[in-house]
Amino acid sequence: MSVGVLGVGHYVPTNVVTNKDLEKTVDTSDEWIRTRTGIEERRIASDDIDSSDMAFYAAEKALYDANVKAEEIDLILVATVTPDTPFPSVACMLQDRLGATKAAAMDVSAACSGFMYGMITAKQFIDTGVYKHVLVVGTEKLSKITDWSDRNTCVLFGDGAGAAVLGEVSKNKGILSFELGADGSGAKHLYQDDNDFLFMNGREVFKFAVRQMPESSVKVIEQAGLKNEDVDYLIPHQANIRIMEAARERLGISEDKMATSIKRYGNNSSASIPIALSEAVKNGKIKDNDVVVLVGFGGGLTWGAVALRWGK
Ligand code: ACO
Repeated sequence: MSVGVLGVGHYVPTNVVTNKDLEKTVDTSDEWIRTRTGIEERRIASDDIDSSDMAFYAAEKALYDANVKAEEIDLILVATVTPDTPFPSVACMLQDRLGATKAAAMDVSAACSGFMYGMITAKQFIDTGVYKHVLVVGTEKLSKITDWSDRNTCVLFGDGAGAAVLGEVSKNKGILSFELGADGSGAKHLYQDDNDFLFMNGREVFKFAVRQMPESSVKVIEQAGLKNEDVDYLIPHQANIRIMEAARERLGISEDKMATSIKRYGNNSSASIPIALSEAVKNGKIKDNDVVVLVGFGGGLTWGAVALRWGK
């Protein structure tokens, strides 16, 4: 059997914070942020919206898009580094709110690679025939672990959520190949510190990502028996446009074939790939039978990639 995406959805808060806005609070400039990161603005959730709320809004849309009822979901996997509380999980909160009464639920902790880890975990349960429908969500309220006085990090992140319903699709469609990986020796480069703020050694993470994203992309393309030129759309984790460009250039694909939601949303950690995927489907950038590569990296350090043929 083949496992693929039956429907997608996303949610971003309405409140826009531009680079110019940040110029007023930290020693930075619109020009620095644009040229070093590719970010122009980001969305920041209000106090009364948490990760589980955004997960709910995105999940409702994905279920509608998939034409699957909440009661038909067998498992909910929520990737997040910013859960409402350490426990219960956001997945359990979501299960209740959706009325997904049949579903098991748990959170996945793999930082920005969390959605990729969730997707591949979902695939295993569906492949074995144990479950029919799995809801995978990436949701982040990064603004609550951001030190708004630290220019090194506060310009980079934004809030939002993206979701996908996975299930059986026709033969030759769906997930063709995947890679997941971890290197815990790099944990020191990206973590939540004693003050609960996100700490990042930008240069080290940059070096790692610029190597890992192209490598993982090429690996899944080869595993799927495809060539780089077969890729119709590339969705890299939206962390820095320069890292994303390295992956795009390595694959030799044109600019219009890569998602760049980073411009409008910044880095949404585990939510960045499903938000970009949902937008690309809605905007018609991804069409039936297209070969799509999703590739992410993040704290842990972790990484993950998927090559899939779009459609049911
Ligand atoms: N505005 C102005 N200057 C700044 C800012 C800012 N917002 N931030 C840093 N600078 C300064 C630094 O202080 C430094 O000054 P110095 O030379 O006087 O010390 C100078 O700019 C250059 O710093 P670099 O670190 O060399 O800048 P670089 O070009 O590497 O860009 C960046 C920094 C954007 C953080 C980059 O390293 C990066 O994107 N790294 C990867 C980050 C990433 O991928 N994170 C993803 C994981 S996190 C997650 O997804 C949850």
